Amino acid sequence: MNVLFIAAECAPFAKTGGLADVVGALPRYLRALGHDVIVVMPLYRSIDAARHNLRWFHGPMGVWMGNAEEWCAVHTTTNRGTPVFFIESQKYFDRWGLYHDEHFNDYADNPRRFGFLTRAALQLCKDIGFKPDVVHAHDWHTALAPAYLKIWHWNDPLLGSAASVLTIHNIAYQGKYPAHHLDYLGLQWANFTPDKFEDHGAINFLKGGIAYADLVTTVSPTYARETRTPEGGYGLAPYLNAKGEDYIGILNGCDYEVWNPETDPLIPARYSADDLGGKTICKRALQARMNLEVADDIPVIGIVSRFVEQKGLHLLAQCIEGIVQNMRVQFAILGSGEPGLEHFFGTLPARYPGRIGSYIGYNEELAHWIEAGADFFLMPSIYEPCGLNQMYSLRYGTLPIVRATGGLEDTVMQYDERTGEGTGFKFYEPSAHAIYYTVGWAVSTYYDRPHHMQRLIRSAMAQDFSWERSARAYEAAYARAIENKRRWDRQHAL
Ligand code: ADP
Ligand code: GLC
Repeated sequence: MNVLFIAAECAPFAKTGGLADVVGALPRYLRALGHDVIVVMPLYRSIDAARHNLRWFHGPMGVWMGNAEEWCAVHTTTNRGTPVFFIESQKYFDRWGLYHDEHFNDYADNPRRFGFLTRAALQLCKDIGFKPDVVHAHDWHTALAPAYLKIWHWNDPLLGSAASVLTIHNIAYQGKYPAHHLDYLGLQWANFTPDKFEDHGAINFLKGGIAYADLVTTVSPTYARETRTPEGGYGLAPYLNAKGEDYIGILNGCDYEVWNPETDPLIPARYSADDLGGKTICKRALQARMNLEVADDIPVIGIVSRFVEQKGLHLLAQCIEGIVQNMRVQFAILGSGEPGLEHFFGTLPARYPGRIGSYIGYNEELAHWIEAGADFFLMPSIYEPCGLNQMYSLRYGTLPIVRATGGLEDTVMQYDERTGEGTGFKFYEPSAHAIYYTVGWAVSTYYDRPHHMQRLIRSAMAQDFSWERSARAYEAAYARAIENKRRWDRQHAL
C-alpha cells in the first residue's frame, strides 16, 4: 500500500510529546512490511536543516485556501529510510514555537496553519504523482484530511480512491475555532452541521475528522473504551460510538532501536536482564548529576513528563513532601510546562537537598539517564491515551508506578505480593492519597522483598511492545479502511 502520513510532529525533527515518537517510528515499521510510506510535516523554524540533511525538493507549490492560492516550498530528507517532506511557509511556520509563542499563547491562526499543512500535503501528492491508498491523519491538526478527500478530491484520478484513517492521540485537544474560518479552510457551509464539524457554533476539527474518516483509531484499547464514555470522550463519545466497529484501539509500539539499555549510546553504561551491573553505574551517575545522595541502597523514583493537568502532577505536588519526609526514597524529576508546576518542582531540591533532584526543561539525554538510573518510574496520569515512558521504563528494568488508565492499564501488570508476579504497581483512584500509598507499597517492596524486586525487574524487561506488532495491526486497519471507502464510493456513485 502507498500511505501518506500527515502530522504536526515527527521525531527527531520536531517533538513536544509522544505524537512525534509515533510518527517518527511507525512508518519505518510499515515500510519493513513492504508498504511505501511518506510523511508530510511543517518546516518549523526550530528544525535544524543542516543537521538533518534537508534539501530543497519542490516549489513554488500553490495550495488553494479560501478562494486564493497560497504558496509554499517543499524540502525533504529521509528518516531511517522513510521520505519526509517539509512544507515551508514563512507566513505559517517560521515562528518561535510549534503551537504557541514564548508566552504560551496559542497562535490565533492555528486552524489556518494546520488546515494549510493538510491541503499542502494532498497537493504535494498530486504534484509528485504519489497515489496514496491510505491517508493517515494524526490528531486535530490534520483531522481535516478525511473531509478534504471526500469533499474536494472524491473525483480526482490520484486522490479519489484514497481511504482515510484518523488516529486520536489525545481527545482533549480537538481544535475548536470560530466559524469564520470555514471559508478559508474550504469546508462548505453545507457541512457545518452538528453531525460533522459544527460544535456549539464553532468548527471542531477532530469531530469533523471522526465523521469523515473511513476508520478512526486511538492509541490503546483501554483508551478506546474510555473515550466512548461521557467522562472520557470530552464531548465526542456519541460520535465515536456512532462509528461502531470503525473506531478501534491499537497500542503504540516502543522503539527498541532507540530505547534499549543494551545499546543505548546516551546512558553512562549499558546493561541487560542477565547483567544488571551497568544499571547500578547508571543509578550512581544519575544521583550525582541530579545532586542526590549517591547511595546504591536508596530507591530512586524517576519522572519524565510534560507538566500539564493530564499527567496528574498536581496530585503528586500534594503528597511528594510527605513521601520524602516519611520514606527513605529519592526523586529525579525532568519536565516542563505549566509555570506553577515548574516553579513547585523546580524549587523542591532546595528544600529537600539530596532527596529530590529536578531539571526544568526538555532534555533527551537526561530522559534516557532517568529511565536507566531510576528504580521506579512514576506516572500518576489522570488520563493517558497510551503513554510511552512506561514502556521505556519496563525495558530499562525501572518498575512503573502508574494510575491504571488508558495505555498504562494495558501495558503494566499489577504486582502480586503473594507470588512476586507482575511488572509494576498500579492504583485506580486519581488522588494524592492513592499516589502516596502506592509509592509506599513500591518502596516497601524495595526494602522488604528484594527477591520480588528481582523477579519484577526480570518480568518487566522481558515485556515486548515492539512496533512490528503494532504495524501489523495498522496494516489490518488500513485494509479495513479501504473496504469502507469502496463501500462509500459505491453509495456515492453518480
Ligand atoms: P505525551 O505525548 O502525552 O507527552 P508520552 O508518554 O506518549 O506522553 O510521550 C512523551 C515523550 O516525550 C517521551 O518520549 C518522553 O521521553 C518525552 N519527554 C517528555 N517530557 C520530556 C522532557 N522534559 N525532556 C525530554 N523528553 C521528554
Ligand atoms: C499523546 C498521549 C500519549 C500517547 C502519545 C502518542 O501525546 O498523551 O499518551 O502516548 O500521544 O500516541
